[in-house]
Amino acid sequence: MKKLTLALTASLVTAFGASVHAADLAAGQEAFQKYTCASCHGADAKTSTLPSYPILAGQHADYLAHSLKAYKRGQAGAPASSNVRKNAVMGAMVQQLSDEDIANISAWLASLPSPLSVSK
Ligand code: HEC
Repeated sequence: MKKLTLALTASLVTAFGASVHAADLAAGQEAFQKYTCASCHGADAKTSTLPSYPILAGQHADYLAHSLKAYKRGQAGAPASSNVRKNAVMGAMVQQLSDEDIANISAWLASLPSPLSVSK
């Protein structure tokens, strides 16, 4: 019985781990480089190449993920609303991102030290 309980627990842990994707910070940083996000937002995500490119470091992860998905909806042709952002540059950039990329990138950005917040 004890063995069965252990085996069940192990398989539940495996199943849970596989179905719930905990955001992967290292993968987020890698994706940020790979998709050339750094070329505008800066490798540290706070030293933008132009003042019109927003600081992303330290922003809330859920806000970042929401923004990226809103650009995707905008690019797909949805009319602008609070859930849809129309922007030619970011609309094109987010096309390459999977939901997992978005979660990882957002979590990594949120973990960075930032001038956006006094507590980091
Ligand atoms: C060519 C320059 C450029 C590149 C490359 C770029 N961005 Fe952006 N990004 C911008 C600009 C400009 C805005 C502001 C757009 C707007 O007004 O909505 C922006 C906005 C954002 C926002 C919304 C920020 C906010 O405060 O609402 C996020 C998140 C973001 N970018 C993430 C990324 C990610 C992730 C990548 C890589 C996949 C990327 N950007 C690549 C220029 C760029």
